[in-house]
Amino acid sequence: MEFKEFGATGVKVPDIGLGTWQYRGGDAPIKKAVELGACLIDTAEMYGTEEAVGAAIRGMRDKVFIATKVSGNHLRYEQVIAAAEGSLRRLGIETIDLYQVHWPDPAVPIAETMGAMEKLVDEGKVRFIGVSNFYLKNLQEAEAAMKRHTIAANQVKYSLMQRGIEEDTLAYCQKNRITVIAYSPLARGALSTRTLLKNRRTLAALQQIASETGKTMTQVALNWCIAKPGVIAIPKTDKVERVVEMCGASGWKLSPSQTVALEKAFPVSV
Ligand SMILES: NC(=O)c1ccc[n+]([C@@H]2O[C@H](COP(=O)([O-])OP(=O)(O)OC[C@H]3O[C@@H](n4cnc5c(N)ncnc54)[C@H](OP(=O)(O)O)[C@@H]3O)[C@@H](O)[C@H]2O)c1
Repeated sequence: MEFKEFGATGVKVPDIGLGTWQYRGGDAPIKKAVELGACLIDTAEMYGTEEAVGAAIRGMRDKVFIATKVSGNHLRYEQVIAAAEGSLRRLGIETIDLYQVHWPDPAVPIAETMGAMEKLVDEGKVRFIGVSNFYLKNLQEAEAAMKRHTIAANQVKYSLMQRGIEEDTLAYCQKNRITVIAYSPLARGALSTRTLLKNRRTLAALQQIASETGKTMTQVALNWCIAKPGVIAIPKTDKVERVVEMCGASGWKLSPSQTVALEKAFPVSV
């Protein structure tokens, strides 16, 4: 597993973590991910998986980087504080490593939300602040609203099939040392299976590179993502063998010509 600096924090995180939206895998896949170094586990108050994550990491808290989120409909000051306390309780931990605003709510002033996020850091309940689904303008507004801390990460949709952040958000995050956490990096499984990847040209390109590299389609798709500076990916699976496969996406490199071939085959989309 390779590690990247997390934002400008000096802390290192793996370039592959594990997502848990709709996760029903029990302890074993999470434990396997941590064992293989994919120790960033992403959850959210709205996923209903914080208890499962908490149970799986019991006894190895010090080896895990826990990322969770306050829902975008809980962004008033007191709601953020209460949501964090609920997440801490369900996870059974004392500090959330990364607390993310799940999506922006234009009805709540961003300064109110970020003020609560900063208070949680001041109280030691949160180590690092993140946002999610914040594209350039929202991200800049959130940064401007902060007084004492900075935004370490922005969790956004990014995969070979969803490259909208390349328009401006990705470059901004790279320049300003905000880690991009790529969600749905397998396009919800479409990049992993022949049956789901309907476009013949894109399927052929992915299969061709998989055969050249001796990797699976999943590994090629994830490797393409994490090859970008400042980007890590959090694929989700319920299955131990797929955790092993996903971790095998780290630690090697596509050649420049393979990257070009892939990017040509997958049209830029939002
Ligand atoms: N911040 C946000 O708004 C937001 C939104 C969406 C997601 N996320 C985060 O990002 C994580 C990942 O995104 P995601 O869950 O949307 O999608 P994803 O990681 O792109 O894809 C996950 C899906 O791919 C399937 N899959 C994995 N490996 C496979 C293989 N080798 N063959 C066939 N299918 C395979 C998984 O099924 P199995 O489980 O059966 O393996 C699962 O259904 C989430 O869990 C969540 O933590 C965040």
